[in-house]
Amino acid sequence: MLEIGPIILREWERKDLEKVHEWENDFDLMLYSRGRPHNLRNYENLEDYYNEERKKENRLHYIVELKESNEAIGTAVIRLSNWASVKSGEIGTYLDKKYWGKGIGKIITIALLEISFYMLNLDRCEAWSLEYNIRAHRVLEDCGFKRVGRERKSAYVFGRKWDWICFDMLKEEYMEKREEIIRKILGEYAEEYLKRVNAERLTP
Ligand SMILES: CC(C)(COP(=O)(O)OP(=O)(O)OC[C@H]1O[C@@H](n2cnc3c(N)ncnc32)[C@H](O)[C@@H]1OP(=O)(O)O)[C@@H](O)C(=O)NCCC(=O)NCCS
Repeated sequence: MLEIGPIILREWERKDLEKVHEWENDFDLMLYSRGRPHNLRNYENLEDYYNEERKKENRLHYIVELKESNEAIGTAVIRLSNWASVKSGEIGTYLDKKYWGKGIGKIITIALLEISFYMLNLDRCEAWSLEYNIRAHRVLEDCGFKRVGRERKSAYVFGRKWDWICFDMLKEEYMEKREEIIRKILGEYAEEYLKRVNAERLTP
């Protein structure tokens, strides 16, 4: 479990399936997060997916909760891979629509970067977002990701093909500016968080 600012990232449990089922049948959520608004999930299919994913050691699935109320408000994931001796994490997240545009997506992104670089020592992180998902691009770039490439015309949505845009960040890029980025994104919550996870507190 990771507490950061007003949110908590905790393990995705079986009890969350109903809520996730609701989100994965939300047209707008799937339009932006998957580029497949029509490709909705039935409950059995989601249950199978959950059962398969929980066995995989290279998948870290989280439920995002509001610390104040413990309300589940979204999901986050890190898909780990180790290819040619480079440890990577592909990150992803979505939030319940009623929480869009309140700054929470950026805090989740920082949480995923903290887990990836500060806790798991990954070498790099990447994130993929559809060309029309300007909100997500803004979140990623504001948190320090670089736009590094595109898979052209690889999603067909609303009568035309769109590109998937790839963003990435290297561990050294994050670690160099870590506290600066955390202060910018977490604002009033930054000092409490940094104090809590600072390595110095483990020094006798
Ligand atoms: C993407 C998502 C996680 C972002 O979370 P969020 O809490 O809504 O994002 P934030 O409030 O932290 O930041 C949104 C930023 O986008 C900006 N933004 C919103 N709409 C915009 C637009 N049309 N053009 C440009 N910027 C826009 C906001 O102004 C804000 O930036 P600012 O704080 O610098 O002003 C959330 O919107 C979501 O779940 N979307 C649907 C699923 C999805 O797209 N997942 C990501 C797939 S890669």
